[in-house]
Amino acid sequence: MAASETVLRVPLGSLSQSFYLASFFVNSTPNLSFKPVSINRKGVRCTNSHEFSSVSNSVARGHSFHSSNCSLKGKNFVCKCQKHDVEESIRSTVLPSDGLKSDLDEMPLPVNGSLSSNGNAQSVGTKSIEDEAWDLLRQSVVFYCGSPIGTIAANDPSSTSVLNYDQVFIRDFIPSGIAFLLKGEYDIVRNFILYTLQLQSWEKTMDCHSPGQGLMPCSFKVKTVPLDGDDSMTEEVLDPDFGEAAIGRVAPVDSGLWWIILLRAYGKCTGDLSVQERVDVQTGIKMILKLCLADGFDMFPTLLVTDGSCMIDRRMGIHGHPLEIQALFYSALVCAREMLTPEDGSDDLIRALNNRLVALNFHIREYYWLDLKKINEIYRYQTEEYSYDAVNKFNIYPDQIPSWLVDFMPNRGGYLIGNLQPAHMDFRFFTLGNLWSIVSSLATNDQSHAILDLIEAKWAELVADMPLKICYPAMEGEEWRIITGSDPKNTPWSYHNGGAWPTLLWQLTVASIKMGRPEIAEKAVELAERRISLDKWPEYYDTKRARFIGKQARLYQTWSIAGYLVAKLLLANPAAAKFLTSEEDSDLRNAFSCMISANPRRTRGPKKAQQPFIV
Ligand code: GLC
Repeated sequence: MAASETVLRVPLGSLSQSFYLASFFVNSTPNLSFKPVSINRKGVRCTNSHEFSSVSNSVARGHSFHSSNCSLKGKNFVCKCQKHDVEESIRSTVLPSDGLKSDLDEMPLPVNGSLSSNGNAQSVGTKSIEDEAWDLLRQSVVFYCGSPIGTIAANDPSSTSVLNYDQVFIRDFIPSGIAFLLKGEYDIVRNFILYTLQLQSWEKTMDCHSPGQGLMPCSFKVKTVPLDGDDSMTEEVLDPDFGEAAIGRVAPVDSGLWWIILLRAYGKCTGDLSVQERVDVQTGIKMILKLCLADGFDMFPTLLVTDGSCMIDRRMGIHGHPLEIQALFYSALVCAREMLTPEDGSDDLIRALNNRLVALNFHIREYYWLDLKKINEIYRYQTEEYSYDAVNKFNIYPDQIPSWLVDFMPNRGGYLIGNLQPAHMDFRFFTLGNLWSIVSSLATNDQSHAILDLIEAKWAELVADMPLKICYPAMEGEEWRIITGSDPKNTPWSYHNGGAWPTLLWQLTVASIKMGRPEIAEKAVELAERRISLDKWPEYYDTKRARFIGKQARLYQTWSIAGYLVAKLLLANPAAAKFLTSEEDSDLRNAFSCMISANPRRTRGPKKAQQPFIV
């Protein structure tokens, strides 16, 4: 599309995009303001502008580059970045902070908005693993018109095919963002939150179909493109991918949920609530909620999604109601409830949110929970029960209980199963979903301890030589062939199919600190430290005991680096885990006990009137 075709797309539905974008001016905080972006199929153009007097710290330190190419429009400086200016700006805007020595002087020049990785395979020398990790994390920072806005997924100089690992993934940035927050470097997180908000719910189409308004992209890339009408100039463009280019065209359902979680962490950590209170940010939260809370055909309060809609972004039999999405959904609802400012017209949304929280909480705690007692119950289930007071509500056939489960389940401990559908329980253990259920208090206090008990009891299986298995066990043989579609990347005990992902360390750390058992995370971090730096921070490990660097694992994977750093920072300052955790409040607790006592599983007999619970 030529410049003259630049369009401002106005979405259908109650929230108009023009209002949405206009709110950037109305409510922009002093540090960063936005001019209406030029929107076209290619993405957001670098028409962001920085108010000169009060730009964010890192930009302020290097703002000399702006002056040559910025013009004053209204109260904003609109910058067109010439290629060499952008490079200079990156050098001048990344400054060592918090007394940390920076290696920037030795750094290669940036490529496509990120810092090039040539210098990555540095020897650790006398540097601590933590120092090395900080250097690597800083080298993965991506800039947009001089401002840090995210981190690339991997910075692997040995990799011949980049695929989309040079992009900023929303989910991958979360540990990076938390690490920066814990280090007191807030700008990058704030910029990430505000720029990704600009990308939200664009009309990106796949074969004439557009995803729902409110969807956050899976990833985005900073592209440098020639400026329309002036070949000597370039401009930077933010190009989002909502799944329409991703392998398998998977929908990034988790992105918006993580965005809300990070937004709340930003407010808690910095004490700066002005970001979450902005009208545009409030609108962004509501759009995500509307998308998630929209009525559909579903019978369950859990969120219905397609396969590969979260960290496991390939076909792995996790379509339907996978635990990871439910835990993030619950967490996002709790965080949003905390952040939403009541205003006219939001009553219905808040009511829907509260009702969903209660129903979701009950559903997961009751029907996803598995321990020895529950397995025995399922083993003795009657089937084909037609009635309101059925015990085996989902008509699970006991023969589904897999043989591995009987050995796997310890006497003490339990976990939330991977998925629940009519006549189907996915008994696999999924780590992220279980850990985030602890973090968000989706699991009860007893269940949370039991999940950690299980991780301790099954250390050799789940933590093994390198923390932490993404799921357990792997699918093999015919099951692998049918469920993954013979995926050569997800072979047994590799990648998503039972591979070990060091990034999960930070989630283990938050969960174990929340439950007052940090020694679990300490042990896992110690184990990781034996190899992770020598192995060059791989994306994942393969084999049953996680002994090999993954077959196709990227090296210098940013969220492996950031996950390790967050674990270290939190273990050194456990109180900071509160920025991420949520405690169950008394309203939810009461609603849950009411529902428990009305549950036919415990009281067979005449049907009780079901009350809607409004918190
Ligand atoms: C892989 C992972 C996904 C991650 C992406 C970028 O596709 O499955 O969770 O976001 O790589 O690191």
